[in-house]
Amino acid sequence: MAAAAIVAGGIGSRMGNTALPKQFLELCGKPVIIHTIEGFLKHPNIEYVIVGINPDWHDYMQKLAEKYFSSSVYITDGGRDRNGTIENIIRFAKASLSASDDDILLTHDAVRPFVTEKMISDSIAAMNECEICTAAIPATDTIIVSEDGQTADSFPLRKTIYQVQTPQTFRLGSFMKMLSSLNVEERAAATDACRLFHDNGKEVRLIEGSASNIKITYPTDLKAACALIEQAQQT
Ligand code: CTP
Repeated sequence: MAAAAIVAGGIGSRMGNTALPKQFLELCGKPVIIHTIEGFLKHPNIEYVIVGINPDWHDYMQKLAEKYFSSSVYITDGGRDRNGTIENIIRFAKASLSASDDDILLTHDAVRPFVTEKMISDSIAAMNECEICTAAIPATDTIIVSEDGQTADSFPLRKTIYQVQTPQTFRLGSFMKMLSSLNVEERAAATDACRLFHDNGKEVRLIEGSASNIKITYPTDLKAACALIEQAQQT
């Protein structure tokens, strides 16, 4: 069995002045994070979901979970950065749900409401062959590297460039081992789980993501997400 860790510790500053963090904004009738959690609960191999939320929004999230789900959804506090939120979720899973180091954890952005059954199945299957995997898609735009943001320094070959999505999946124990190997500076720099494993010499396996598996960052993303749901309802 496996569990999902929904990272929701951010406040969505790029979304602009909204009264609620973006994970709570309404998307076609229910909050974004509810769509996300439902995507995991639908999968037969997901035993439970833990949400790591900004402490200021803990009670709000607790009430939402009670409204939409009868069981299998747990709430804990998020951390200072994304990996800190994952760390808190793992500590909660071990202390409160008897999770073991070998258990598989699919970590996923709260604001990415279109995870598919196949992404979840592929992620779990990959754990027989590697220590970490991430959903990713080939880049569609040409990417330019620019140190100063004014002039182009280099043009990486587009066919070698991928956009990283979530789920990012690993076993609880291996993530904690990687994290504990870092000093304070390295810890501050390692904001992404894949980077953490890669810098520790581990292979980061890619599984097939999707162009629809969008992360809601700006107001236009919310409109695009709504259009995707409406389109799915018509087919
Ligand atoms: N996240 C988290 N803990 C943090 C910071 C971010 O769990 N301390 C989560 C966010 O809640 C989000 C995911 O990581 O689900 C991806 O981050 P991003 O889209 O950057 O979200 P925010 O940090 O909320 O957005 P912004 O950068 O615009 O403030």
